[in-house]
This record gives sequence, C-alpha cells and structure tokens, in this order.
Amino acid sequence: MTFDASAVDLSILSARAYNLRWAELPKGVIPLTAADPDFPIAPAVKHALQSYIDGGYLSYGPAGGFKEFKEAVANNYQLKNQVSYSPENILPVDSAAFGIYLICQALLQPGDEVIVFNPVDFLFKYAVEQVGGVAIPFDTPQSEARMDFSGLSSLITPKTKMICLCNPLNPTGKVFTQEELEDLSKIAAEHDLYVMSDEIWSDIVFAPHRFCAFSSIERTYAKTITVTGYSKSYGLAGLRIGSVLCPDETIYQKIFLKSLHQSTVHGVNVLGQVAATAALNDAQVWLDGFLQHLHKMRDLAVQELNGMPGVTCSSPQGCYLVFPNIENTPYTAEELHHVLLQEAKVAVVPGMPKWFGAGAQGHIRLSFATSEEILLEGLSRIKRFLTK
Ligand SMILES: Cc1ncc(COP(=O)(O)O)c(C=O)c1O
Repeated sequence: MTFDASAVDLSILSARAYNLRWAELPKGVIPLTAADPDFPIAPAVKHALQSYIDGGYLSYGPAGGFKEFKEAVANNYQLKNQVSYSPENILPVDSAAFGIYLICQALLQPGDEVIVFNPVDFLFKYAVEQVGGVAIPFDTPQSEARMDFSGLSSLITPKTKMICLCNPLNPTGKVFTQEELEDLSKIAAEHDLYVMSDEIWSDIVFAPHRFCAFSSIERTYAKTITVTGYSKSYGLAGLRIGSVLCPDETIYQKIFLKSLHQSTVHGVNVLGQVAATAALNDAQVWLDGFLQHLHKMRDLAVQELNGMPGVTCSSPQGCYLVFPNIENTPYTAEELHHVLLQEAKVAVVPGMPKWFGAGAQGHIRLSFATSEEILLEGLSRIKRFLTK
C-alpha cells in the first residue's frame, strides 16, 4: 500500500468523513482537523470484515467481547510493551472515548478530584465532569526537557482519586520517557491514586523516541487502567471500537458492570471487534508503512510551519499532529481558525480551552495524516495567507 495521493479517495471521504472533516466542511476546504487519517483501512482489515459479512450473520456477540479480540489485544500489548494483561480482564468498548468515560463512571464518586493534564484532549475533563468529578489541571507545557512532576503533588488533596495520563499526549505530541513515568508513578503510589493511561496514540511514535507503557511500572500496575483504541493507527473511528485493560478481575467487574454490556442495553458491535482483531494480528506491516509516511509528513509540516511569519512549531515526538505556536501572528487561535477557513480554505483546530484546556491558547492543531500532496497544498494555502 502506498500512502500517496492516489490512495486518498476524496469522492468517498466527502460523503463519509465527518467530525470537522471532508463531509462536514464546504467543498474545496482542506481539513487538517480531526485526527482521522485520509487513507483507507489496511487490506487485512478489509478482508476480515468482508469475510465476516460473507458468513451472512450479524448475531449478538458475547457480552464481555469476542475471545479472539481479547486475546489479540493482550498479545499485541505483550509484544509491544512486554506487559501481561489477562484476556479475561480486557473489555472491548465502543471507542476509547467511551472507555475513558466508563473508567470514570466505575471508579469515581461525585466530588472526587482527578488530575488532568493541560493541554490535553477535552475527553478527559468531559468524562470526569459527566460523572460529577472535578478535573484539576496540571500544566504540561511543550518542551524537550524532562517533565517536572513536582508541581503535581501540590494539586493532590484528600479528594484526589485518579490521574489521567495521555501518552503520547494529544495535542503536543509529547512521548513520556520511562524516567518521567517513574516520577509520576512514585507520586501516584504515595497517594494511592488510580492512573488512567490513555495509549491510543502509542503506535504513532517517531524514532528515536520510544513508547513506554505506564503499566510496565510494577509499583503502580495494580492501580493502572489502560485504555486504547483503533481509530488513530488503523483508521477505524467509524466502527467505534476500543478496549479497557484492567489489572485484575475486581476492577474489570466494576467497569463491566457500568458498561451495561451484560444486559444488552449497551454493547460493542461485532464488526468493530473483527476489524480490530485483524488490525492487531495482521496489519502490523501496513502500520509500519503508515508510520514511515507519517514520519516524513511530520518533518515536512514542521519545516513548512517554521517558515511562516509569526509561527513556531516544535517537532512532535508522537501523534500525527502538529501544535504550532501562533502568538506572533496578528490573530488569536480562534481568529486564525476562522480566517483560514474563510479565506485560505483550510480547516485547523484552534487551541481553545474547550478543546484542550487553557494551556492550548496561542496554538492551533493540525493533523498530517494525509498525502504529501494534500498536506503541502494545505500548508501552502496557510503560508500564502500569512505572508499576504
Ligand atoms: C487521546 C485520545 N483519546 C481518545 C480519543 C478518542 O478515540 P476513539 O475514536 O476511539 O473514541 C482520541 C481521539 O482523538 C484521543 O486523541
């Protein structure tokens, strides 16, 4: 599979890609917005879906998920992170986003406080608040320096229950080192806190940086709940499929109970599990190719953005997102988003508190999970506008 313009089918994307993308924006606008690739799914995933459908039945699946799915998640995790999760303690969920919410529902009481990084994707604060919790922001500015977690301890009160870790971190692309995670783990252990480790971006890490799973730290393994999904690495966002990896049966049961899967009031569709199983078992070579392409796109995006007046962009260690600082342009992030959409015909995500927390101000976020041709056209439109 090549990751060039010939692989991107704009006629299909214009009809199917929602969430601030091709199908939602006026014709002619290039969306560098939601983190959802412009490339079709891996052939192995397509074949698995086709052959399941060829069987002719779409019956109910097991409440706790397909055994094959749970095993694929456990095997892939063991292979990549050298950490064992028992397949019985892995729950498929209908998206990582819902997994985040379920973990909050199962482990928090109204009034509990949760440390949420700032900036970070809005999903964490949203989920905490949906269950009556209070999100306490911990500033994680963009920097190559070792993350200093000393300020995090001062945010902990008797009401603090959990820390939400997003690694790699959307939107800054930070990939936490083992040493940094050790520091965080010591604080979590000292205060007996749960850690929700969102690892949906863990495949998208650019060498020489390496992903280290928080669950690999033994000290806090028993209180770490890992959540992940298959929207980013494999382009399966529309299937709404993710998983929650629990350290033991007690935590699994708490989360399973809240999922309502056992009553069929809620559940995970079978096709999502079939697709994710094939992705984890049979699409790793495809994923390597995708990552290689993304590495090139990252370097290109960073170089182009740094050549624009008023823009400075550091190179993300992970995620297919760049998060340039635009404070030296004449615009706020919201204004820039607006004028780029209207005049340059490019959509970006403004670094507004509602998307990423207060720490995102003065930045915009762009996805580079597209072809070189589309990315270059989008970036040159922005450059032309800013140099006008
Ligand atoms: C850190 C993080 N977690 C979760 C999600 C949501 O993933 P899903 O499509 O599985 O809900 C995203 C999507 O952007 C994300 O960036």
